[in-house]
Amino acid sequence: MPVLKTHQQPIGIFDSGLGGLTVAKAVLKLLPNEDIVYFGDTARVPYGTKSKDSIIRFSLQNADVLLEHKVKAIVVACNSSSSYALPALKRHVNVPVLGVIGPGVRKALAMTRSGRVGVVATPATVKSGAYQKQLLKQRPTCMIQAQACPLFVPLVEEGWFDRGVTVSVAQEYLRPIQRAKVDTLILGCTHYPLLKQTLKSILGPDVFLVDSAQEVALELQGLLAREGLLNASRHKAKNLFLVSDGPDHFRKLAGKFLGREIVLKKKSF
Ligand code: DGL
Repeated sequence: MPVLKTHQQPIGIFDSGLGGLTVAKAVLKLLPNEDIVYFGDTARVPYGTKSKDSIIRFSLQNADVLLEHKVKAIVVACNSSSSYALPALKRHVNVPVLGVIGPGVRKALAMTRSGRVGVVATPATVKSGAYQKQLLKQRPTCMIQAQACPLFVPLVEEGWFDRGVTVSVAQEYLRPIQRAKVDTLILGCTHYPLLKQTLKSILGPDVFLVDSAQEVALELQGLLAREGLLNASRHKAKNLFLVSDGPDHFRKLAGKFLGREIVLKKKSF
């Protein structure tokens, strides 16, 4: 597939749905000169309970959607996709691809004092072992406690960030994390930063929560700079949001979350 490598092309970001807006927001803030095309696969969300094969297939299709818009780099905001599909994506496209696992791991290892690190994520991400492998590769002595939290995504989608039921569910999921006495917890899912206050209230101030969105934006900046792809020209950046289903729900929530009107289109496969 011919891809023009030019700094004026947009950055592509994809997620299984809305959650990747946490990453989009951090990128928009750090790189205000960059145009962005965001694709949320709202027709097939959630990915976190799906098989490896499905997650890889969906991820490659999402990358193709972004390439139709001539993106110069692809950010895989979805942790489940980053866990399973990164090697396939890198083979499939000829633009730089950045996932969320590496940046989250680097931040966690920079922050932990005890070397005891927790990971909360979707069942797919935990099962892939992506965070566990990266952590151990970079620090073989690291002690890791990983916990799948399948009920968190629907609770966040409902906007129930700190309801009683959410607190009870979080208390249950975090028990093994607390027993493991971690001092750093990786929020290994796009949706979990929205539960930060609830998780903090359970874990207390001594556990550092790693929200990879900010780290991904910083790493993207470095990557674009190294590849000569940063857009330095000051202009009113254009942002396009694409979804595979239900634009109304996405428009309402995305506008609220990003604090701006968005240009949104439906993209069918
Ligand atoms: N975006 C997914 C992730 O970060 C969470 C939502 C889903 O399960 O699709 O793993």
